[in-house]
Amino acid sequence: MGDGIIFCDRLIRDLKRASEIIRSANSILVITHIDADGITSGGIASTALERLGKEFTIVFEKKITEDTVSAVNNSREDAVWICDLGSAYLSEFKRSNIVITDHHVPDTKWRNKQTFIDDFHDIYHLNPHTYGLSGSYEISGAGMTYLLAKTIDPSNSDLAFLAVVGAVGDLQDIRESGLVSYNKAILEEAVSAGDIIVEKDVRFFGRDYRSLVQFLQYGSDPSIPGISDDSRGSAAFFSELGIPLRNEGKLRTWNDLTVDERRSAADRLISMAVDDDARKRLFGEVYTVTRFERQTGLRDAKEFATVLNSCGRYDDAVTGLRICLGDLDALEDAERNRSDHRRNISSALSYIKENRLLRERRFVQYFDAGPEIRETVVGVVAGILLTSGDAKKGLPIFAFAEADDGVKVSARATRNLTDRGLDLSYIMKTASEMVGGYGGGHTVAAGATIPDGKEEEFLDIVEDLVSSQII
Ligand code: C5P
Ligand code: ZN
Repeated sequence: MGDGIIFCDRLIRDLKRASEIIRSANSILVITHIDADGITSGGIASTALERLGKEFTIVFEKKITEDTVSAVNNSREDAVWICDLGSAYLSEFKRSNIVITDHHVPDTKWRNKQTFIDDFHDIYHLNPHTYGLSGSYEISGAGMTYLLAKTIDPSNSDLAFLAVVGAVGDLQDIRESGLVSYNKAILEEAVSAGDIIVEKDVRFFGRDYRSLVQFLQYGSDPSIPGISDDSRGSAAFFSELGIPLRNEGKLRTWNDLTVDERRSAADRLISMAVDDDARKRLFGEVYTVTRFERQTGLRDAKEFATVLNSCGRYDDAVTGLRICLGDLDALEDAERNRSDHRRNISSALSYIKENRLLRERRFVQYFDAGPEIRETVVGVVAGILLTSGDAKKGLPIFAFAEADDGVKVSARATRNLTDRGLDLSYIMKTASEMVGGYGGGHTVAAGATIPDGKEEEFLDIVEDLVSSQII
């Protein structure tokens, strides 16, 4: 499948073995992550199981905790399928018939390249890292889950669009301004199924629902001087090109522009980008999910993923799952989650600015939001501070917030820093474990939970690790 992508033989073999486990189980416990990649994984896994006529339960988790580990180990179901989570805890699972379709950095205690069959238990571990693939831009958790669903039954290839939304939700399209490698092969299946249309366009956020001015003012990433965060500059941009902001009194969106208008606006934006990197990020592939009407806010893959993320962050992943399964009645609940999310983000940003919470050390910057920002949102806020330029792009950012089980820490960095050797996944895992917590994630975005009162000690360790990694 896919244009020129040769699937790794070992992966195909392991997918077949894992699919046998699922096929031969009568009852299955599905555990998945609460973000867009996890919710789409849940949509794929549950549809595949439904079609097989299996009895299954689906549970959403923010992260793997001791309780999750014991729920897995003590579950009564014949098999457990863990999606977009689990790889970091392989050595904790002590039962047979576990299938993991994840892309997070695997547990280092697990033998290198081991995919299945521990001394006593069968664990089928399907993770891009095991096959020499990147888990940050070649395939996501939903992608791995999709490959297994398709191995279970080729007719599940109509679920490819969910894997595309999952990959986009995990920002796998950022590096190349489009999906590549296994993600691209899956994208092509979604295109063949008629579920996704790929176009080259400006990659700002909100092409389907924001007014033209807001699209540039708030959606522009990379930022463009004179336009980003500038409503007058954004309005002037269109008037100089002779592009009307309204049609019959109604505000137009970027998608309402004619082909010529869009082309001239895109050319002008590209010419205004600050450097080659910004030009590359600005223009590239955009994905339209054809199953949904324009008004739903689900027609653009990035917007779709945002809807799912905002469900997950407000303890309502089930609404996200219903949407993935095509239940449009769930949209009203999702809209409530989405507007809560927008409101929370903007009040969190003003709270940090007004109270001057952002602090700098030599190698890191950080803020402690205490109980003021939800632990599921603090990472997004840290990311926005970094991309908006309110925080220094040259330093990784660490954000603390109160959580039920201690202090949540979210870390974010720019690509530039990870290209220079920074690996937040390693740093968060190592530093949190040294202070009695746990963590992990990806090189550019990672998280951890640490015990109360350990913040300073944690930052000291983080700072040593950051300075030793960056060259
Ligand atoms: O929670 P946050 O948005 O900061 O998470 C960033 C990334 O780190 C996510 O991919 C998440 O799954 C991962 N993470 C992790 N272990 C944790 C917390 C977050 O692997 N304890
Ligand atoms: Zn993921």
